[in-house]
Amino acid sequence: MDPIRTPGVIAADLVHSARPTPEDDAERTLRPGRLDDFVGQESVKAQLRVSIAAARARGEALDHVLLAGPPGLGKTSLARIVADELEVDFQPTAAPALERKADVAAYLTALEPNAVFFVDEIHRLPRALEETFYPAMEDHQLPITVGAGAGARIVTLDLPRFTLIGATTRAGLLTTPLRDRFGIQHRLEHYDPDELARIVHRSAGVLGVEIEPAGARAIAARARGTPRVANRLLKRVRDYADLRSGGRVDAEAAEAALDLLGVDQEGLDRLDREILATICDGFGGGPVGLSTLAVAVGEEADTIEDVYEPYLLQRGFLQRTPRGRCATRRAFAHLGLVPPPAATPLF
Ligand SMILES: Nc1ncnc2c1ncn2[C@@H]1O[C@H](COP(=O)(O)OP(=O)(O)OP(=O)(O)O)[C@@H](O)[C@H]1O
Ligand SMILES: [Mg+2]
Repeated sequence: MDPIRTPGVIAADLVHSARPTPEDDAERTLRPGRLDDFVGQESVKAQLRVSIAAARARGEALDHVLLAGPPGLGKTSLARIVADELEVDFQPTAAPALERKADVAAYLTALEPNAVFFVDEIHRLPRALEETFYPAMEDHQLPITVGAGAGARIVTLDLPRFTLIGATTRAGLLTTPLRDRFGIQHRLEHYDPDELARIVHRSAGVLGVEIEPAGARAIAARARGTPRVANRLLKRVRDYADLRSGGRVDAEAAEAALDLLGVDQEGLDRLDREILATICDGFGGGPVGLSTLAVAVGEEADTIEDVYEPYLLQRGFLQRTPRGRCATRRAFAHLGLVPPPAATPLF
């Protein structure tokens, strides 16, 4: 195992990571604007349509919404769409930017009636601030302390009605009292290849890239179920096609470009394979603790847990057990390794 990364490898990691990168400023242009443009997640969309129509008909703020799911699946996009469909103001922030009660108060008191207040990474809200949210979410009230010492008193501000939309990659880290205050809760799941091919097609249209259906399918097949990854691969494949095939993305150009990026047929990149190889080769198939694994592959434990694991678990390459992570027989087969004979932890 070689922990030193060559520049080429770093580039490939960025392309394939489900995390946003600076280049993703361009994401805004690719963001679907309405529910009808938002591909897949049919059951979530159907339920949101009903909730939105009902809130609009009553002229009320939509109930608070919690959107959970791995990075790059469309939580932020969906939150914006909900505000647009409601035809209300959208006020975005992220939990790490909210440090003090005054930060929250500044946002909440400035909201327009029925606005959507979007808090990204809501699992990172400090505990002390959570309690500020409870009365705001339930009774549209914000108790604040005025003055200090013996003269301090509590004044309760009335807030406009609003909808809090919280997004999280780690729903499990939310406290129960906070989670319970979201009347609407949805989990976004990885997309299937057909849906991703539709997303790639739509993005190609927006970017003015000429693409054949087989080219879109080839990219979709290796996009690890994630629209952000699909869009990023599309851009890299476009670069390749510009140089090699006159700009037209057909299956051949897509496959060749993806091979060059080190994204394999299962959509796994170098770090995915390194994680699996470490467990298979270095630890006899596991179990391995997350922190040990993180040190062995030279990556943050959080990144492994948030970005890499969900897809490896979903595709049956990895199992989580109380004693640690285990590689499956499928992982050994994918890496061309022979599983240890009668190894007990294998699934
Ligand atoms: N269902 C979809 N249909 C079309 N495009 C999508 C869809 N979901 C996501 N995308 C595209 O993927 C990109 C990333 O989506 P988004 O930023 O909403 O993900 P996220 O879940 O908020 O990610 P993170 O957890 O990193 O904040 C968007 O710019 C958008 O172009
Ligand atoms: Mg987001």
